[in-house]
Amino acid sequence: MDPLVYKLIHIIGITLLFLSFGAMLGGGSGKSYKMAAMGHGIALLLILVSGFGMQAKYGYPLGSGWLITKIAIWAVFGAVIVFAKRRAFPLPGLVALLLIAGGAAAWLGLMKPF
Ligand code: HEM
Repeated sequence: MDPLVYKLIHIIGITLLFLSFGAMLGGGSGKSYKMAAMGHGIALLLILVSGFGMQAKYGYPLGSGWLITKIAIWAVFGAVIVFAKRRAFPLPGLVALLLIAGGAAAWLGLMKPF
């Protein structure tokens, strides 16, 4: 498959992930929370599969620091659903964390600094 297709799927996944975070943190009703939780799961799957698709197509070594860090950020994004549900974190802090982590993942993918 054209690696640009993987890239497009990567970006669709990221769009859905942040859409789901927004809906989740808005503290919606039972149904909207369920939709957000589903979107969150689907988005993470799309991001991971397309990320490894690009890694394989472009031949980036699996041990690259930037790639491993992105996978760690991906895992944090997966765990956020627990914090969001338990309201274990103040909302502005969680929003800041998500923005910084998302920006860092984009920076790592674009610059591959290490
Ligand atoms: C956690 C959320 C993530 C975000 C927000 C994110 C974001 C991005 C962005 C913005 C790019 C740049 C696309 C471009 O070059 O135009 C990118 C590239 C890339 N991402 Fe992610 N990413 C994430 C997770 C992952 C994961 C988990 C993997 C691997 C399993 C991954 C693998 C890659 C690879 C290999 C590239 C390089 C593409 C290239 O060289 O053209 N990403 N990512």
